[in-house]
Amino acid sequence: MANLQVNYLGLDLKSPIVIGASNLSDNIDRLKKLEESGVGAIVFKTLFEEQIELEELELDNDLEAYNERHPEMVRIFPELHHAGPRGHLHKLKKTKQALTIPIIGSLNCITPSTWVDWAIRMQDTGVDAIELNFYSSPSRFELTGAEIIESQLQVVADVKSKIKIPLAVKLSPFYGNPLEVIARMDKFGVNAFVLFNRMYQPDIDIEEERMKQTYVFSRSDDARLALRYSGLLYNRIQAQISAATGVVTAEEAIKMLLSGANTVQVVSAVYKNGPDYVKSMLAEISAWMNSKKYESIEDFRGKLSYSNLKDPFAYTRAQYIDILMRSSEWINPWFL
Ligand SMILES: Cc1cc2nc3c(=O)[nH]c(=O)nc-3n(C[C@H](O)[C@H](O)[C@H](O)COP(=O)(O)O)c2cc1C
Repeated sequence: MANLQVNYLGLDLKSPIVIGASNLSDNIDRLKKLEESGVGAIVFKTLFEEQIELEELELDNDLEAYNERHPEMVRIFPELHHAGPRGHLHKLKKTKQALTIPIIGSLNCITPSTWVDWAIRMQDTGVDAIELNFYSSPSRFELTGAEIIESQLQVVADVKSKIKIPLAVKLSPFYGNPLEVIARMDKFGVNAFVLFNRMYQPDIDIEEERMKQTYVFSRSDDARLALRYSGLLYNRIQAQISAATGVVTAEEAIKMLLSGANTVQVVSAVYKNGPDYVKSMLAEISAWMNSKKYESIEDFRGKLSYSNLKDPFAYTRAQYIDILMRSSEWINPWFL
């Protein structure tokens, strides 16, 4: 087995595979199995401000009625249980005590002071790092992109100045220029960027003519966006990169590392295939490294990044034009 150890968020991980924030963290026995399978770290599911306010308002159910009073609060992840924040932090603490690998807490708030207060409380559970989950799902026309960015920058600055443990920020890809936002957050000393949040979209049942919630697991092709930004950012910012979304096989994990990512986050593949799948992904990464005579991840990380490619064409506008101009060479309409 090749040496798969990496450093992420100042923590020594035994492998670059991190379990992304999800309900996989609901169950400690499940997490222990994932630990045994060789994952480097686990991001605990997000604590949402809705949970915090619900507890404070002593409402124990009916998120929909709550949303009507707070139109900006949209229910963004499936299976958002009504567990209060104290219960959440208690579980986080228990998980941290039960496992030996690093545990990262995740937080998604709306109000600036809530971000800071709960980041501090989360830190007090003993977690190794905190991931801010910036999931912006605009529903107001008058809110500008610049305002969203400014408020996120303020949250990053405030939280970073108040906590002592490393800070990761999980971003949406939907900014006019994600590089600009990342570069500005980088100046506040963010330790890692998680690229990217998977954005959930509504769906419609055409028979019933009603809205429906469907969860679609990622496919390998979904990894390309994170691959691009990981490649563009390698060696050009201070923070580390954790590539998320679409890491479904060992191949995507290797590609992400070649582009410059320090770690990859995996959720869909584990949901579908169980903990032993991580073992097989790691064995495949190791076999690939052996075949290439790489002894450690650092031997090849970033080799195919924008900074290291002699011709970084693949990361630029020229690639887009080239693909469209030459498309007739490899795509035949109707296969005629
Ligand atoms: C059931 C489920 C619950 C999730 N919950 C969270 C969450 O609480 N916080 C978060 O930041 N992401 C959450 N995610 C998103 C994942 O962390 C991840 O970003 C997304 O699934 C893309 O990774 P993948 O392609 O490996 O699935 C959730 C995903 C799933 C499938």
